[in-house]
Amino acid sequence: MSESPVVPAPSFAVTGATGQLGRRAVDALLRRGVPAGNVFALVRDLEKAKDLADLGVGVREADYDRPDTLGPALEGIERLLLISSPDNDNAVRQHTAVIEAADAADVGMVVYTSVIHADETELLLAPKHAETEDVLQGSGLPFAVARNGWYTENYTGRLDEYLARGEIVGAAGQGRISAATRADYAEAAVSLLTGDIADQQGYWELGGPSFTMAELAETITEVTGTTVVYRDLSVDELTDRLVEAGMDRATAEFVASLDASAARGELETDSPALENLLGRAPTSLVDAVRAARL
Ligand SMILES: NC(=O)c1ccc[n+]([C@@H]2O[C@H](COP(=O)([O-])OP(=O)(O)OC[C@H]3O[C@@H](n4cnc5c(N)ncnc54)[C@H](OP(=O)(O)O)[C@@H]3O)[C@@H](O)[C@H]2O)c1
Repeated sequence: MSESPVVPAPSFAVTGATGQLGRRAVDALLRRGVPAGNVFALVRDLEKAKDLADLGVGVREADYDRPDTLGPALEGIERLLLISSPDNDNAVRQHTAVIEAADAADVGMVVYTSVIHADETELLLAPKHAETEDVLQGSGLPFAVARNGWYTENYTGRLDEYLARGEIVGAAGQGRISAATRADYAEAAVSLLTGDIADQQGYWELGGPSFTMAELAETITEVTGTTVVYRDLSVDELTDRLVEAGMDRATAEFVASLDASAARGELETDSPALENLLGRAPTSLVDAVRAARL
């Protein structure tokens, strides 16, 4: 009687694997039971990836700015998580280089981390994502787009500052923000990456339970016992304040415009996709604030 042939598990690659989201995606793949030998961390700085190599995952050099690194990095990869580049000015060119290399390497599925409502928002971060989505669609590769909302860590990472000042200052008004933790977005991306391609293809609006800045301040007060209030400014006032604090005006205008987007509701979604992909409720704001206090 002949033995059934051993079917190798598909190989998964994660770009930006030394970054905060990418690292969590590698962890999520391993937690999901993918053998470390089938997980490849694509990084631009091999030195920064020693801890990843220690986990037994393959570490390959892949620099978005050096297309010659991308072909070898994607050799034999069946499913790729393309973590968006933080380089706003060059992101579309960089992402296009990765998508072209994935096409040339016959990658079977690309999951791209985009931004919430990428194709229908005034959010200044959106155009680079919408253009990348178009490139991906035009490539003919099977793909899923994870349109991530804001990271909860954008706020919990500033907890000490909020507590020291006793206030959160912004221009988000009553806008609701469907933020979620990086760990939840990473797990959702891995769910798209490892699932049935036919079911996962398409665009996924991802976000956690929404909150206003005033509700964030209330939650911080409740969890820490230190009173924190939200002070809402106009976009111009916030811009001036950021400039006074030492930020250059162009960056200050950009940062304040993100709050204007929040005020217009552009960071809110009622999509249940994150919960569905996780198979559980996303981490609550209370739990995220508690965890940031540890
Ligand atoms: N939803 C949100 O609230 C939010 C907030 C911030 C950013 N984002 C987006 O989400 C992405 C991931 O977030 P994150 O928190 O993981 O950011 P992060 O910690 O800054 O990680 C970015 C990753 O991109 C890598 N990278 C940068 N330039 C590269 C290049 N030329 N070639 C290859 N890799 C390159 C970095 O490599 P090194 O480790 O070598 O630096 C790092 O691993 C960001 O890049 C940004 O597009 C979303």
